[in-house]
Amino acid sequence: MKFPVTRMRRLRRLPGLRDMVAETTLQPSDFIMPYFVRHGTGVRNAIGSMPGNFQMSVDVLVEECQALVRTGVNSIILFGIPAQKDAQGSEAYADDGIIQQAVRALAAKVPGLVICTDVCLCEYTDHGHCGVVRNCDVDNDATLELLERMAVSHANAGAHVVAPSDMMDGRIGSIRAALDRTGQPDTVIMAYSAKYASSFYGPFRDAAESPPQFGDRRGYQMDLRNAREALREVQLDLDEGADIVMVKPALAYLDIIAAVRAHCQAPVAAYNVSGEFSMVKAAAARGWIDERKTALEILYGIRRAGADLILTYWAKDAATWLREG
Ligand code: PBG
Repeated sequence: MKFPVTRMRRLRRLPGLRDMVAETTLQPSDFIMPYFVRHGTGVRNAIGSMPGNFQMSVDVLVEECQALVRTGVNSIILFGIPAQKDAQGSEAYADDGIIQQAVRALAAKVPGLVICTDVCLCEYTDHGHCGVVRNCDVDNDATLELLERMAVSHANAGAHVVAPSDMMDGRIGSIRAALDRTGQPDTVIMAYSAKYASSFYGPFRDAAESPPQFGDRRGYQMDLRNAREALREVQLDLDEGADIVMVKPALAYLDIIAAVRAHCQAPVAAYNVSGEFSMVKAAAARGWIDERKTALEILYGIRRAGADLILTYWAKDAATWLREG
């Protein structure tokens, strides 16, 4: 039916009509808020590259999470800044490591909070790579054992979801087996399945103090020119036991989110990464862009592409904005 019978503007005329026919929803429970935790007490260090985000000590993090759940966001993902870095990333799987301490405190003090932990060695190694380095390269199979130990120690501390972000081959299978073997069959694995080697991680590496000290991550993270390869990664992770699959970054990869959504029935998460956040913050600070409207447009776009869950530094603010309408 053509114009004038069909008038697309009819359904756009009133706010109520627009809401009735809106195809995409966004709610606080769709979000996972990333937090950075470090040793000490009373620590709340502003992260210069990510305005509004902080490196926090466990006590401050607990208060922050209590405030977060009041906004309706009920999930967080934790990144740790260790006291010491070494070649093997030992604090990553230490019982009294910073993440293990944080998880124990949150599990005890913030009921209802779903605690996810990032499982990757780059914040803990002195060379800044995501695994064991041999001859200037990350040794895949030697890294798996350390990732298993890291995931198991997070689960033992009380993490509900472990999220391997290292991109080693076979890690989901080995972590699943290790969790099952150690009495943690119910720990969820959210796999960073299609994680690209991206410039958009720049601000995060400042925040987590984790830039590689030589080379880059292109030997293990995905080549940004590839899309079909993402589906192979997703399928492998699902076959190995992933419960949730993730695409990262989100904005330059909306096609990948849509393809993954079409490819599988599992929940799909997308990581709206640091660079995507900071570039809006920077433009907003100069008055070039409206942060609130732009952020919500981005988050709706990621949902429309097919993501069920969004990891985003806007989680807390967006929950408040959505409530305010
Ligand atoms: C750890 C990890 C990174 C991010 C999440 N987990 C950094 C990287 O791979 O270099 C990036 C998150 C962001 O940019 O917001 N490997």
